[in-house]
Amino acid sequence: MKETQTENLTERAEQKDHLQQEHTGETVGTSFCNDAKMSMRNVNVYYGDKQAIHNVSLDIGRNEVVAMIGPSGCGKSTFLRCMNRMNDTIESCRIDGEFILDGADIYHAKQDVVPLRAKVGMVFQKPNPFPKSIYDNVAYGPRVHGLADRRSDLDEIVEVSLRRAGLWEEVKDRLNSPGTGLSGGQQQRLCIARTIAVSPEVILMDEPCSALDPIATAKIEELIAELSENFTIAIVTHSMQQAARVSDRTAYFHMGKLIEVNDTKRVFTNPEHDLTEAYITGRFG
Ligand SMILES: Nc1ncnc2c1ncn2[C@@H]1O[C@H](COP(=O)(O)OP(=O)(O)OP(=O)(O)O)[C@@H](O)[C@H]1O
Ligand SMILES: [Mg+2]
Repeated sequence: MKETQTENLTERAEQKDHLQQEHTGETVGTSFCNDAKMSMRNVNVYYGDKQAIHNVSLDIGRNEVVAMIGPSGCGKSTFLRCMNRMNDTIESCRIDGEFILDGADIYHAKQDVVPLRAKVGMVFQKPNPFPKSIYDNVAYGPRVHGLADRRSDLDEIVEVSLRRAGLWEEVKDRLNSPGTGLSGGQQQRLCIARTIAVSPEVILMDEPCSALDPIATAKIEELIAELSENFTIAIVTHSMQQAARVSDRTAYFHMGKLIEVNDTKRVFTNPEHDLTEAYITGRFG
């Protein structure tokens, strides 16, 4: 009996040590989870000599929605873009640390970024439809990735994706019109339809609603809730109400550091770190 107790205690102490070792940096709260879809470890990002991200470690759980909040310039977009190697295109950008998706390093030399970006899709702040028809915007990814053999299959993917993005009713009679001719909010929903058309496993959203009216925003938030049943989502938002409505955990960034990660409810009602509290109560940011 006693032996078992001692063993348990030793085991617990070892686990704690392990967590503390992993818990480098000053992040408070729960950065890690048991069923991680993506795990970022000891991430540092530089633009030339300037460091934008300082030793950030964070897990995004399977089917979890994690919100990333923090003052302008604190590194939210930088961190998010690194999660599907979107920062590869910025020459001055240097990234170190680990980005693990389903146990594999996404920065491995053999990783092809095209399938990676289908698996880890991204929706940007500014809607960026291709200069193509509404139909072709959504059909583009499935075509490139060979997801539909027949036209009828492609039609179905286009319709289902547009429906899920809450846009179908508004565009079903003009699928051949250019996507760029839609309103800003419609364009954003088109971009979301385009992203989900390739059935990504992770969706990264960088302030996806900042150009939308409250009705379109509500539609996107409903969509996020629906998508989170099957997908893993990381969303950057400046709206604390939005973070509170859509996310399971919230990560608070400050000057390139990850200050706190906790259950969303906790972050907005009883934050663990003073900096988080100062931000959510509007003392800065
Ligand atoms: N392409 C780039 N080249 C050089 N510096 C950059 C680049 N992109 C971002 N930065 C710098 O990195 C830091 C983090 O920027 P980032 O865009 O990640 O912040 P953010 O938290 O998304 O801000 P916002 O809320 O305003 O969108 C800032 O100091 C920014 O000036
Ligand atoms: Mg940003």
